[in-house]
Amino acid sequence: MNIQWYPGHMTKTRRMITEQLRNVDAVCEILDARIPVSSRNPDVDELTAGKPRLVVLNRVDQADRPATDSWAAWFRAQGHAVLLCDAKSGAGTAKFAAAVRELLADKLRAYAEKGQTGRVVRVMVLGIPNVGKSTFINRVAGRKTARTEDRPGVTRSKQWVPIDRGLELLDTPGILWPKFEDQSVGLNLAYTGAVKDDILDVETLGCHLMAYLGARYPNALLTGYRLSGLPEREEGENDIAYGYRLLEAAGRKRGFLISGGEVDTERMAKILLDEFRAGKLGRFTLEMLEE
Ligand code: G4P
Repeated sequence: MNIQWYPGHMTKTRRMITEQLRNVDAVCEILDARIPVSSRNPDVDELTAGKPRLVVLNRVDQADRPATDSWAAWFRAQGHAVLLCDAKSGAGTAKFAAAVRELLADKLRAYAEKGQTGRVVRVMVLGIPNVGKSTFINRVAGRKTARTEDRPGVTRSKQWVPIDRGLELLDTPGILWPKFEDQSVGLNLAYTGAVKDDILDVETLGCHLMAYLGARYPNALLTGYRLSGLPEREEGENDIAYGYRLLEAAGRKRGFLISGGEVDTERMAKILLDEFRAGKLGRFTLEMLEE
């Protein structure tokens, strides 16, 4: 698994988060609802220990709703507040300010008792690349915020984004990294487009995704590729081998044939990933709580 990572940039980001933590009242961790584990930064718990946390499960429009609800309950049980959002359409984002104030209710009450009613509540927004941070921030701020460049090697200064009177967001001073040493995390990040496809060849990626969808969401494949049934999985058959047979079945149905009547599985794999990402096959969660 060849995902680029930048130890120097990560160290800088970690330091900035630690420094800025004393200026904020809470942390807003934005996750991809389809991959609530893979889209977590492995160090956030340790880095932000002790700060109240609002977990935003973003991209709920693309995720399987019952699975999202289970994850929301699980994050709540960890003591976090949870907000379900589709930052692209804006659904759920209007509840952000109220969710933060509820999360910090005790603190706000204490301020009020001391007469400090004008105190501004500040929240640090964290998330891995492409999870929807800018879209989310623009939504809750109700406008386009100016963003400085956000990529490794380019230092971004911190930015306070006013939300309403008394609430400000601190945009992340850099990117956060996922837990990319784990193969299944790498696959999940690639399916969802959070990392570039070139971590694995597209056909292999397509085989893995087909095998997952075949096991978890067979009806989506039956409908999406107009199949009358899915091939049976043979005993001991691994994901790649089974996924390959699914790619063949779908590709044959689509008429993606090459010489000799063979199926162009590479073309089918590209189409599968495109259609998956565009939501054409349905709504999916790639990590289930019970697993
Ligand atoms: P980042 O700052 O965390 O890196 O992510 P950013 O907001 O740039 O979002 C990355 C892409 O994800 C954008 O699409 C954005 O529109 C999309 N997105 C963000 N939140 C959601 C969501 O809740 N649901 C869906 N379906 N999409 C979401 P893009 O193709 O790069 O740009 P655009 O063509 O949508 O403008």
